[in-house]
Amino acid sequence: MNKNIVVAIDGYSSCGKSTLAKALAKKLHFIYIDSGAMYRAVTLYFLRNQTDLNNHDLIIDALEHIDLNFHSRDYQSHILLNGEEVSEEIRQMPVSDNVSKIASIKEVRQAMVKQQQKMGKTKNMVMDGRDIGTVVFPDAQVKLFMTADPKIRAERRFKELSEKGEEVSLEEIFENIARRDYIDTTREESPLVRAKDAIILDNTNLSEEEQLAFAMEQLTPFLDKI
Ligand code: DC
Repeated sequence: MNKNIVVAIDGYSSCGKSTLAKALAKKLHFIYIDSGAMYRAVTLYFLRNQTDLNNHDLIIDALEHIDLNFHSRDYQSHILLNGEEVSEEIRQMPVSDNVSKIASIKEVRQAMVKQQQKMGKTKNMVMDGRDIGTVVFPDAQVKLFMTADPKIRAERRFKELSEKGEEVSLEEIFENIARRDYIDTTREESPLVRAKDAIILDNTNLSEEEQLAFAMEQLTPFLDKI
């Protein structure tokens, strides 16, 4: 059986999952899917439409009106929400502040997981998120679980947002990351946990090149099958 290869990358917020996932996808010529972007796009839709998050019928109805698509340019993944490019807007604070809450809604997760599993059926891909190795692709050939010191994570995110000209304080980012970690790890629906067979990658003291080299080592046994 010629099965496609899936690399599942999970971990805490702002750990550099997408940086590693993109670098791997580029090196291996795999597709890269940022599953967090999907939850962020749904959040943006709910915020724009002021969807009542306590009304499950409204949520289910709203999900039926959300069409998500990825298009890839230079291994930067772009997401389209009902045809509109929202890649920038979903990284801003209003979405970051609300996304964990929305990602904990059962119906939202079911709809996203279904789409993600469909995408990973036939193509070699790297997907990053919180439940990729546990729920979306429990049979993924390679699973990485990323972590890093929360202070370092906040500093990295602060630098990234400041460079984009967003006015936000380091404290605000630190709190946002801590809150998201808390919600992501304690929610009832597929909380963030390390899959038993996931390899831990703590990149507190690693450069991007070093973490890529580490991940490539884990992939070596599968490379001759590509
Ligand atoms: O990776 P990110 O920070 O862009 O993810 C945004 C939020 O979406 C994060 O707080 C948790 C949630 N998420 C999730 O619950 N499951 C995923 N597979 C990906 C993201």
